[in-house]
Amino acid sequence: MKILVTDPIADAGLDRLREAGFEVETAYEAEGEALHSAIHDAVGLVVRSGTEVTPELLGAAPELVIVGRAGIGVDNIDIDAATEHGVIVANAPEGNVRAAAEHTVAMTFAAARSIPQAHARLKTGTWAKGEFLGTELDDKTLGIVGLGRVGQEVARRFGPLGMDLLAYDPYIGADRADALGAELADLDAVLERADVATVHTPLTPETEGMIGETELSKLDDGYLINCARGGVVDEHALAAAVEDGVLNGAALDVFAEEPLADDSPLLDADNVIVTPHLGASTEAAQENVATSTADQIVAAVNDEPVMNALNAPSIDASAFPRVEPYIGLAETAGRIAMELFDAHIEEAHVEYAGDIAAEEIDIVTASALKGMFRQLEPQVNAVNAPSLAEERGIDVVESKATQAEDFQSLVTVTVANGSGEISVSGTQFTGGDPRIVRIDGYRVDAIPHGHMLVARNYDHPGVIGFIGTVLGDSGINIAGMYNGRETIGGEALTVYSLDDEPSTDIIETLEDDERIIQAQYLSLNDE
Ligand code: NAD
Ligand code: MLT
Repeated sequence: MKILVTDPIADAGLDRLREAGFEVETAYEAEGEALHSAIHDAVGLVVRSGTEVTPELLGAAPELVIVGRAGIGVDNIDIDAATEHGVIVANAPEGNVRAAAEHTVAMTFAAARSIPQAHARLKTGTWAKGEFLGTELDDKTLGIVGLGRVGQEVARRFGPLGMDLLAYDPYIGADRADALGAELADLDAVLERADVATVHTPLTPETEGMIGETELSKLDDGYLINCARGGVVDEHALAAAVEDGVLNGAALDVFAEEPLADDSPLLDADNVIVTPHLGASTEAAQENVATSTADQIVAAVNDEPVMNALNAPSIDASAFPRVEPYIGLAETAGRIAMELFDAHIEEAHVEYAGDIAAEEIDIVTASALKGMFRQLEPQVNAVNAPSLAEERGIDVVESKATQAEDFQSLVTVTVANGSGEISVSGTQFTGGDPRIVRIDGYRVDAIPHGHMLVARNYDHPGVIGFIGTVLGDSGINIAGMYNGRETIGGEALTVYSLDDEPSTDIIETLEDDERIIQAQYLSLNDE
């Protein structure tokens, strides 16, 4: 199986993919048709910020399971399109946080002390000691825009250097800010009070152009540092603000268009210092993100949970062994429920009872939905199943109960519409022995794979014998049989595990008998 790598990553990541048995193809310069042809048979794609992952590129990749982003920012990846294609998008959000924070600190000092400008003068032979008068950061105010992973690391570094910390982040609690010694305020107040503002938000429709001429004017005599994403700050307004002396200076590692164009006004402004997107460029960070991305690619292709999936349920590695047995079981329960229901569905309930209710179960619910939709959408997987439910207007409800009557853990999938419902429950017996233990309220004990016949019949003498005879006469061996009934002589539900598929003639023969209400064949094999 092939993994295509279209932006350079550390060798440690490539080695890990090869060790896992993948063929690794690098295509750093490929574009257009060449890129489409390279991705055609790839199961994984590894990118950094250089490759635009568009709907067209995803459309050219019928085998693709995962796009791994060796880094944090995913603004170059169309996540909605990936979800529609059932492709996981996963990033490596931890590996380069320290590197980005350290680069922010370095850029702040470089701007405040004009280090690159002074260095350039000396290298060209001028001892310009009298030309540079810097700003001390001790006792000044730092305004942090975006107090996430990198923003917090920046706070941890500048606090001990004597700076007062202010932060703007509408999605972070005051407690977290307090713990860092930072005061939360709105953007205008942060910029008005700050001597240095550092930007650490993602690029989103909300943050694009968030800092323009008006905002920069509030930071008067200050410094603007952006090592996050270029589009957050208006570059023309920034160059003008520095040239006009509104700001003392700026330092940028990221740009709206990368590589930065030769005619960018930022290059003409003396007090704007620039680096070519180097925030994550340390050996440690590159190894971290490359190996973390490789691990996620391996997990995705092996159908295991992906730790940092952005469009699929993810799960903590330590919890996975407890949840894993229920992933396939819920899928089968969803599949059986849907096939038996055989009607338009409006609601899906996934109920967790007992020990499993204490776990992270998003991935189990997604698998139940995958099982439900497998007949309708051949491309369904745990990534796109929740959005398929939404598109189809199906309400998905999860519920949890700490007690599971008779079982340690029980997962029940119910499909319903206004006029009826059917539910299927499964559990795990000790030793990794999955069982379907209830269908439509009837107690059964069925192995959830192979060929299954579900018969609804009246509990009359001889019915079970009749079904056995019809199957036996056709050469179909019964591996197991489980009968559940409401009352003696009332309705019953019988589940047969068969060694072969019964023909439609057999099903018709069974249903022609007046004691049999319905007979349904379900193939639980993975085809
Ligand atoms: P993060 O998701 O942990 O933090 C982002 C923070 O921004 C969050 O706390 C979020 O609440 C906040 N935010 C979102 N919208 C906001 C808004 N409208 N106003 C204010 N705050 C808002 O991300 P991170 O890991 O801290 O990364 C931060 C940025 O740094 C990202 O853009 C990432 O791509 C970039 N980055 C760049 C480099 C580099 O090489 N230069 C390296 C690493 C990260
Ligand atoms: C990131 O988003 O992780 C950074 O921009 C680093 C990078 O990939 O160069």
